[in-house]
Amino acid sequence: MGRSLPRRRFLQAAGAAVVGVPTSVKGFTTTEMRSMAADDVIQADISKWELDTPALCVDLDALEANLATMQSTVTRNGIASRPHAKTHKCPQIARMQLQRGSVGICTAKVGEAEVMLEHGIDQVLMTTSNVTPFKIERAMRLRRFYPGFVQATDTPDNARDLSAAAQAAGVTADVVVDVDPGGRRTGITPGQPALQLAQLIDQLPGLRLVGMLCYDGGSQHVQGFGARRAQTLERLAPASETFNMMQRSGLNTEIFSGGGTGTYNIDHEAHGLTDVQVGSYAFMDAQYLAIGGSSDDEVYTDFQPSLTILTTVLNSQYEGRATTDAGAKACTINQPWPIVKGETGMSYRSGSDEFGTLLYDNPSRTYRTGDKLEVIVSHCDPVVNLYDQMYAVRNDRVEAIWRIAARGMSA
Ligand SMILES: Cc1ncc(COP(=O)(O)O)c(C=O)c1O
Repeated sequence: MGRSLPRRRFLQAAGAAVVGVPTSVKGFTTTEMRSMAADDVIQADISKWELDTPALCVDLDALEANLATMQSTVTRNGIASRPHAKTHKCPQIARMQLQRGSVGICTAKVGEAEVMLEHGIDQVLMTTSNVTPFKIERAMRLRRFYPGFVQATDTPDNARDLSAAAQAAGVTADVVVDVDPGGRRTGITPGQPALQLAQLIDQLPGLRLVGMLCYDGGSQHVQGFGARRAQTLERLAPASETFNMMQRSGLNTEIFSGGGTGTYNIDHEAHGLTDVQVGSYAFMDAQYLAIGGSSDDEVYTDFQPSLTILTTVLNSQYEGRATTDAGAKACTINQPWPIVKGETGMSYRSGSDEFGTLLYDNPSRTYRTGDKLEVIVSHCDPVVNLYDQMYAVRNDRVEAIWRIAARGMSA
């Protein structure tokens, strides 16, 4: 993940081209943009370059292409997609994913699940266990109103707590067993421990076993497709064996969810896997661009970077550099650093709270104070969580303003 992407290779890969001309316009604020929207759709002809900054933008052509690539690939591979909404936290994008054939979405937090279900996204798999009484109670409340809500568990004690809470709430809760791929972050050990937990859930009152999940986060960013494939299949093998054991025991295995953006075209090779819980593919980021894919060893070209931050130059009076208004609070301090879209010979740093730094090294152009530029985000999930809304842009025109409704729902 620390590798920086060779600039020229990236530009070829992303098909980047300077289509907008940065100008020193005043910039429409979020309030002004909202006043021009009906049902989120912007009614005026506004270029993204006219937005007040920092602004989070998603390119609709790239987003739609990414969703189409994912859906056609998983369909061809005989599995489904169950995209992770922890990435976009945005009901509009969840709806687009479902409209294109996803079987549901995932959430990491019960707060995200509440937002998605309340916005009409009716199939939600929460991939993290709820372990405190308050969160378990919230999960059971969701279950009462939304039959498509499924939750994960990874210990027998937690399964018993869920059972007691489900009975107290008068519901039957759908539950999957979270199986550890070897990372020891969450999940129960595959094989007998996981099987016994599944059998326990199957017997506990108030619970209905609907299968298992196994998310191998440690394999997603392995450099190079061959190495990534080998590691993924090795680490998913015990989960597949667990799936077999559950099937042989007559347990319900309708869900075996796993995988992510780095392994979406590998996971189907793991026996039993039903769907990939891919998140970042919708937006991409500098971290994922650097992992390499099956058709290009250095750059991951399967998906296009659709998520960018628009920023304004605040200071250009010093040689070899410029200062922008998008620092850590707009971009995070994740690395590799954001990539300046459509340019070569310059790099970006967002380590300082309020300011970004552009560093020139034989740059394709230089910027003046007031100019705007666009950076491809370093790591999409935490960046999205910094903004209340994102602007949906097509051919540089702002089509819509989407609330990031589950932004900050970390509890
Ligand atoms: C449990 C779980 N599933 C799926 C994903 C999606 O991963 P990606 O964004 O790499 O597609 C994540 C991301 O961290 C995750 O934690």
